[in-house]
Amino acid sequence: MSVNPLYFYRNNINNKTIMKIAVAKGDGIGPEIMDAVLSVFQANKVSLSYEYVDMGKWVFDKGFSNGMTPDAKITIENLGILFKGPMETPKGKGVKSVNVTARKTWNTYANKRVFQTLHGVDTVFSKAGIPIDITIVRENIEDTYGGVEHMLTHDVALSRRFITRPGSLQVIKYAFEMAKKKNAWRITCGHKANIMKITDGLFLECFYEVAKEYPELKADDVIVDDLCMKLVTRPDTFDVVVLTNLQGDIVSDLCAGLVGGLGFAPSANIGDHICIFEAVHGTAPDIAGKNIANPTALLLSGIAMLRHLGFMQNAAVIENALLYTLEQGIRTGDFGDKSKLALSTTQFAEAIIGNFGKEPQMNPKPLLPNMPATPTHFKLDKNPMLISKEMEDETIAGVDMFIESAEQPEVIAHKCQRHGGVKFNILSVSNRGTQVWPTGSVFTNLVNQYNVRFESIDGSPLNQQDIIGLYVSLSGNFKICSLELLNKWGDKKAYSLAQGQ
Ligand code: NAI
Repeated sequence: MSVNPLYFYRNNINNKTIMKIAVAKGDGIGPEIMDAVLSVFQANKVSLSYEYVDMGKWVFDKGFSNGMTPDAKITIENLGILFKGPMETPKGKGVKSVNVTARKTWNTYANKRVFQTLHGVDTVFSKAGIPIDITIVRENIEDTYGGVEHMLTHDVALSRRFITRPGSLQVIKYAFEMAKKKNAWRITCGHKANIMKITDGLFLECFYEVAKEYPELKADDVIVDDLCMKLVTRPDTFDVVVLTNLQGDIVSDLCAGLVGGLGFAPSANIGDHICIFEAVHGTAPDIAGKNIANPTALLLSGIAMLRHLGFMQNAAVIENALLYTLEQGIRTGDFGDKSKLALSTTQFAEAIIGNFGKEPQMNPKPLLPNMPATPTHFKLDKNPMLISKEMEDETIAGVDMFIESAEQPEVIAHKCQRHGGVKFNILSVSNRGTQVWPTGSVFTNLVNQYNVRFESIDGSPLNQQDIIGLYVSLSGNFKICSLELLNKWGDKKAYSLAQGQ
């Protein structure tokens, strides 16, 4: 195994160890807030040097379809750390967000977002004296964010939602490990396994599997809608919350609202080889170029990055100065007491620098000595997620054929029965997941795409040739939009039932 090249980039300048990271200033307010944050780092003599890389809207505009130049990609892969400002995704079909591309390309599978009461930032909860300290860990790669979507008919769109066992285990393990290190008193899995029994069910199963390895942590689960209600009524009853990608995205913005808005929400995208630190908010085009943006979220992300790299003392001094500054009521225009003068981005950074060495009244951070970053492996020797448990007792019990038709369910069932021949029986016909044959309701509204579920006529296992035979026969009568095998592992069905089945 090779060692993270971060270490190769540590070099001696004026007898000091300088570590190099990649920096992308981003679009909109990105350059202003990044300059402000780096000025704070420089004033605190953080031993970091920066290699600026080309990413963002203007890189898209130059014709690089993934929003970064090949040089930027190589630099980031060599250095292992990217500190980035927000980036605009050009509108229009076919262009994917550079932010999402970066997270997926470099497998930064855990998105950690810390939401804490900041004194001086008034919220409903700070006024009521209810403290908030919630860490959301969001799965960052899978779920509907694969963007694998198809129009099955002119009227029916399908999004594929990938939840995998190794993908879930790696983010959940990270969440438990992080919760243990921060002495969390509770770790909660947010999910919708009551509805998405297979996908969210797998995520929840992985959660409790990992929980067994951490008996010292109180682990429980809450259905995501209930979680949202509880977060806005009693946020102080949560500590670490781990969720799948889309639910985590929504819940983390909700939490940002609890502590004062997106201007205070930092984010770390953690992978085994590459980590990306950024603010949660976007490019704020409405205020770009005016030097009025709030750099706090990016600074908090930068502080998390300093801790990740081992700059514990720098991180504590800067965070204490930031918290002290906020406590003093010093503000940019987007928050705080409107009767007080709002500072520019630059002035706000200068105020923080002026407060180095001061400690906030609430939650001062301990001054720990700087220490070397933990070495991590860089290049992948193998893809560990490819390796799965051998499923010797896996059989094919049937197939779901998704067909386009504007006919009535009983007509479809009748036609399909003929195609089943001697191998297949029709078990059910469903429309958007609701069974409409053999039983159903005349009140169920139908779209022009049905799922006809075929099963083995005598329960004996099927093979792929049987499925292809059925496909060929059925295609004489219907356009087949897609199909899914009905796998069984022993007696366990690896597929969901239609509603009403
Ligand atoms: P946004 O977060 O840029 O702005 C929403 C509102 O919050 C605006 O009124 C803005 O002025 C304000 N705001 C945001 N950050 C602020 C700050 N630091 N200080 C003061 N006010 C701030 O969200 P929007 O408008 O939906 O997205 C704009 C662009 O940003 C889009 O192109 C989007 O794709 C991109 N974006 C990029 C992200 C990233 O790079 N990670 C994340 C979210 C959006």
